[in-house]
Amino acid sequence: MTDKVLTESSEKQGILTPDSLSVDNEPELISLRPKRLTEYIGQPEVVETLKIAIQAARKRKEVMDHVLFHGPPGLGKTTLAHIIAAETEGEMTVTSGPALEKGGDLVGILTHLETGDVLFIDEIHRTPKVVEEFLYPAMEDFSIDIVFDKGIHARSHKIPLKQFILVGATTRVGLLTAPLRDRFGIFRSLDFYNETDLLTITKRSAYLLSVEINNDAGQELARRSRGTPRVVNRLLKRVRDYAQVKGDGVIKPETVHAALDLEGVDEKGLTNLDRRYLKTIIDFYKGGPVGIEAIAATLQEETDTLVDVVEPYLLKIGMVLRTSSGRRVSPDAYRHLGYRVQESLF
Ligand code: ADE
Repeated sequence: MTDKVLTESSEKQGILTPDSLSVDNEPELISLRPKRLTEYIGQPEVVETLKIAIQAARKRKEVMDHVLFHGPPGLGKTTLAHIIAAETEGEMTVTSGPALEKGGDLVGILTHLETGDVLFIDEIHRTPKVVEEFLYPAMEDFSIDIVFDKGIHARSHKIPLKQFILVGATTRVGLLTAPLRDRFGIFRSLDFYNETDLLTITKRSAYLLSVEINNDAGQELARRSRGTPRVVNRLLKRVRDYAQVKGDGVIKPETVHAALDLEGVDEKGLTNLDRRYLKTIIDFYKGGPVGIEAIAATLQEETDTLVDVVEPYLLKIGMVLRTSSGRRVSPDAYRHLGYRVQESLF
């Protein structure tokens, strides 16, 4: 199985290249990804759904339904798309919603797919409307309608496609239009991983990176990784560097503390941006409620970054609450940042 990655620039030139799209495609992080469902740790219901769908399609000698994954970044949406391609023995083509600017961009990709191939569209909620309209018949009838000429000379031509599997990934399922969402036969949300699963992932990755880590150190790393395998793997590499330069190469709890302190990752796994976000609400907006646009403007960060990357974990651990009148921080957030809790505010 070979992967084709369509980047924004290569895609415009119509060239398929193995260029990197994002952090997801850093070679060393890719090597840590599980390649098959049996290697996949965590998300048991999602894994079971996929196992059944893959086996059923194989039994019927059919191509599996389209799959939509929803969840915060780093939880395994891209990894699962690669696994689906590996398990169904299809080739994988990777693109993203924002990279598809015109209908023709998508037509070019679709007409090159073979039966059983996987087309992975990351950030599918950012696909332009004109492109999305090509997706409907492609997903439903495996055909696309191309219109030549305009006005009274307009002619429509149906191009048949091979039966492919579309795997979509989104951090914001609410932004997907209903017609697109409804065309996915399988829709699964990925949740943050518990510490037990993250510890198992840490040990597996440490083994693949040939670095020794003791159980207590693994647990500490898992606790401070925001429930996210991509974070665990990235921090593990920083901790490995630290152990090899400042210590004897073995990762111990002290190594994790020292390396993560240097990275600005605190005991709860919060980063500088997480803490700036919480402090902004407390210092500028008296703890909230405050709208996300106001927080983004004060922090000088993109609203999307806050909504997609920062907030999901803070909501999960109860540091921030979303109310109808805006975001509020919880007493836990005050305590964690060393502020006195003003009971009258709650
Ligand atoms: N590496 C990253 N995510 C993983 C997972 N869910 N299972 C095993 N290894 C991983």
